[in-house]
Amino acid sequence: LKDENEDISEETKSLISSLPSDIDCSGTKLFKYQGCWYDKDILQAILNFNKNFQPQETDIIVASFPKSGTTWLKALTFALAQRSKHPSDHHPLLSHNPHELVPYLELDLYLKSSKPDLTKLPSSSPRLFSTHMSFDALKVPLKTSPCKIVYVCRNVKDVLVSLWCFENSMSGESNVSLEALFESFCSGVSLCGPLWENVLSYWRASLEDPKHVLFLRYEELKAEPCVQIKKLAQFLDCPFTKEEEDSGGVDKILELCSLRNLSGLEINKTGKLSEGVSFKSFFRKGEVGDWKSYMTPEMEKKIDMIVEEKLQGSGLKL
Ligand code: A3P
Repeated sequence: LKDENEDISEETKSLISSLPSDIDCSGTKLFKYQGCWYDKDILQAILNFNKNFQPQETDIIVASFPKSGTTWLKALTFALAQRSKHPSDHHPLLSHNPHELVPYLELDLYLKSSKPDLTKLPSSSPRLFSTHMSFDALKVPLKTSPCKIVYVCRNVKDVLVSLWCFENSMSGESNVSLEALFESFCSGVSLCGPLWENVLSYWRASLEDPKHVLFLRYEELKAEPCVQIKKLAQFLDCPFTKEEEDSGGVDKILELCSLRNLSGLEINKTGKLSEGVSFKSFFRKGEVGDWKSYMTPEMEKKIDMIVEEKLQGSGLKL
């Protein structure tokens, strides 16, 4: 029989035994660390990252709560930050899923190794990483050399419905009901959640250090993509030149990264992550307010009240 903690270091085992634990709606045991819930493997990866990651000033980290627009922001950030290196007709985004180009610190790199080889990343100067960890779990190594962090948040009800659809698209028979996921969300016991803690950690960081942390909203990216992408480019120290703007450079990147374009590419129709998740499950409707087709007025009221209470005094609305 395999020891379920076989791959976990003594240090993590001892940390785990001191943390609050709970079970989420899919039956996974989660542990609360620095304000958010993680399973033991991700916790080990976060500790690996905290111990061994050596930031470079030019590094860029795309951060989010799952299903908040991560795939889109990864594509936009990659396209912007690497645009001088890639001609548009052979662009890596045409043959790779954004998740392959911008790996997760805790779900890819430090999950598989305590000291991953960061010389073989898909992008260099700047190196691009991503994370679903809260800012509190991420910030220790960045104290010595702060890098740029871009966070995207999204309406909690759209995140919930998007997560439910995503999980159903993968799990076949063992579907979690929307009601069970909803209760788990409301109680806050969900991977990398509670959502509001995850969001608030970056919101506060963006207020404290706006030069290093940019806080974006999915809804604003949808409503005014040109304005938002220019803001992102400026923040990443790669603003559009007048020539780029005049020759349609902004629209070209928006079109390359659009849901319609990405979801229609062969790689995203047929490809899979190494863990077997199909790339196509990262692209669905991309609508604002889709939750209205799924949630009852009672659910709406309950979650709105919880979120309002949790965000009280923060200046943030979700
Ligand atoms: P829906 O399920 O509401 O359609 P994440 O990337 O964080 O996993 O979030 C997935 C959500 O972002 C899904 O939302 C998905 O359709 C949407 N999405 C993915 N790529 C997008 C893009 N290029 N533009 C806009 N939305 C996108």
